[in-house]
Amino acid sequence: MRTLHTADDLKAWRAQGAGTIGLVPTMGNLHAGHMALVNAARDACDRVVVSIFVNPLQFGPGEDLDSYPRTLDADIAALENAGVDAVFAPSVAQMYPHGGETATTVRVRGITDMLCGSRRPGHFEGVATIVTKLLNLVCPDRAFFGEKDFQQLAVIRRMVEDLCMGVRIVGVPTVREADGLARSSRNQYLDEDARRRAPTLAAALADCRERLEAGERDFAGLEARGWARLADAGFEPDYFEIRGPALQVPSAEMTEFRVLAAAFLGKARLLDNVPVPEPRT
Ligand code: PAF
Repeated sequence: MRTLHTADDLKAWRAQGAGTIGLVPTMGNLHAGHMALVNAARDACDRVVVSIFVNPLQFGPGEDLDSYPRTLDADIAALENAGVDAVFAPSVAQMYPHGGETATTVRVRGITDMLCGSRRPGHFEGVATIVTKLLNLVCPDRAFFGEKDFQQLAVIRRMVEDLCMGVRIVGVPTVREADGLARSSRNQYLDEDARRRAPTLAAALADCRERLEAGERDFAGLEARGWARLADAGFEPDYFEIRGPALQVPSAEMTEFRVLAAAFLGKARLLDNVPVPEPRT
């Protein structure tokens, strides 16, 4: 496995081999959720490159940019074991040569005005900008993103479509702990008590899903029920919303939905969502 730090290294690596390329963009601190992306990329592509970059542009003031866990050596070892071909781990200066004065950003309107987009202003502009840079540098055939960040996946799909980027975006289902908690690097911010309560988020989403599957269509009532369940368990909910599968406002005639929630639990802001109906495997 090659470890690459600059755009020139990446270009040279790209030119050396043949076949299709899969890109797995990450911010490092890899866990089973990232490894599911890597496995999906390995199954679908001849060569796999994983990027590791904690992107300052997608963090807002007061967010966890400085404390975000950085574990590059362990990540590289895990990716080597997983049979990845290359890791791209650039510096901030490589990705933002003009520092904080970046004149060009990518903004995806509409879909970023709701859910996490309205709670974290500028976040998705930071994500869309760095993903555009990575896609431009790697020129992959496919790029792999987790469904756990469902709105992020929808934003990237929309950007790729609107800007005629010739890459296929692949969504990979969320990986969960045995008690249902979605895997996330931010789970390590949970203390023992918060970790015990954390699966309530997945349980509240699953309860909402069951009710929708059973034909309930009182969306406001279902959202209030999910919100109350989180608040009772000590969460500070940010949102608990039912949407259509493309994040559109739901209507009673629809048969497919996404239920999405974000909530603070102690220091951690947890994020999760489920498709309705539940996919049968
Ligand atoms: O999902 C993430 O880890 C990040 O938002 C991404 C897509 C790597 C962009 O920095």
